Amino acid sequence: MMTATTTYRNGQLFVEDVSVSALAERWGTPLYVYSRTMMGNQIRALAGAMAAVKPLICYSVKANSNLAVIDTFLKEGAGLDIVSGGELFRARKAGADPARIVFAGVGKTQDEIEYALKEGILFFTVESESEAVRISDCARRLGVVGRIAFRVNPDVDPQTHKYISTGKKENKFGLDLNRAAAAYAQAARLPNIELAGLHIHIGSQLLNPQPYAEALDKISGLCRDLKVRHASFQYLDIGGGLGIDYKPEQQALEPAQFAAVVLPRLQALGLKVVLEPGRSLVGNAGFLVARVEYVKPGYDKQFVVIDAAMNDLIRPALYQAHHEILAVRETADRITGDLVGPICESGDFLAADRELPAVGPGDYVAVRSAGAYGFSMSSNYNSRRRAAEVMVEGGRAELIRARETWDDLIRNETMFERRG
Ligand SMILES: Cc1ncc(COP(=O)(O)O)c(C=O)c1O
Repeated sequence: MMTATTTYRNGQLFVEDVSVSALAERWGTPLYVYSRTMMGNQIRALAGAMAAVKPLICYSVKANSNLAVIDTFLKEGAGLDIVSGGELFRARKAGADPARIVFAGVGKTQDEIEYALKEGILFFTVESESEAVRISDCARRLGVVGRIAFRVNPDVDPQTHKYISTGKKENKFGLDLNRAAAAYAQAARLPNIELAGLHIHIGSQLLNPQPYAEALDKISGLCRDLKVRHASFQYLDIGGGLGIDYKPEQQALEPAQFAAVVLPRLQALGLKVVLEPGRSLVGNAGFLVARVEYVKPGYDKQFVVIDAAMNDLIRPALYQAHHEILAVRETADRITGDLVGPICESGDFLAADRELPAVGPGDYVAVRSAGAYGFSMSSNYNSRRRAAEVMVEGGRAELIRARETWDDLIRNETMFERRG
């Protein structure tokens, strides 16, 4: 799937039918480029593989929260998975139906809860007994009902990077499975609360489907019991986490493999199914395009200095993540070294100790698999303006976020005023 959106034509890299260097010339670099066709294909493949349970696929907005990306999935019939008031605001601006929004996160504030209650979201995935009490209080004040699904931590190893493992007992997420039944019993007595279902999300970038099986097997008894006790208990939300191929030798967790493991278990439970995929829908649909500024020889390797940096794509610095690097002008020549940005940190690299295409100043490179947790994790560190974003579909390209201006950098700042 990884190669589906890029090709070389006459030695030039194309995303769908658009030349990447033409995009870079037009909108400058660093530039995020997304394939809308691939996003659509990805969600349709997942929906097709899971059709037997007709899941509500709630695109996980945190992966890439650009309005045009959200809109792409809404047009495919998706709901949304959000984790903040800000994401709810984006979801509503993109035209999402609140009745198809689920709200996760360990630290929801009172303001965020009230905002979501007023909007009438489908349910909150709730991380603690005290959060359920807070939702009940807010709902009572507003005279509405808060629908909740406790997030249960099933203590399974998703076999992924420790920073994106979320379903082991040492992780901050979810309720201890042994405490879950009591938490539901307690929440059932709270005013203005409806027990809508149960939630798990065991981690991100899972390449093996077995941990999903293990997690579902651990929670199925509890789900059966809750379904019998509470007529309102209808939903099982199994989160996201499907992994993608960052490296050529990696095999993405394909929807069919995922479905083969989860479908029989979900069908046996007979609950309405919610999925929250992020990375698998957008990761390989995105590229970060950068211009080479300098090639600098080091003691024993080359440093290719580009105009994109860790503030644009933090995954290599944060998770030692691997991203394939493509030359925009095709070359078979290779050098060994690091692809680095201009930021004053040794962690500012997009590829370290790697074989890279032999590029020189003025050339463009495309960092692959940058559609998920790329722009959405970007920052203004070193007072760098955040990148522009472009959506491509077929031969069409549209700017979906303009590059920040210098004024954007200081927009909310004021000088400290000296008095007296
Ligand atoms: C609760 C929840 N759901 C869904 C996701 C999306 O995960 P992924 O992008 O791996 O599909 C995350 C990611 O952190 C999450 O925390």
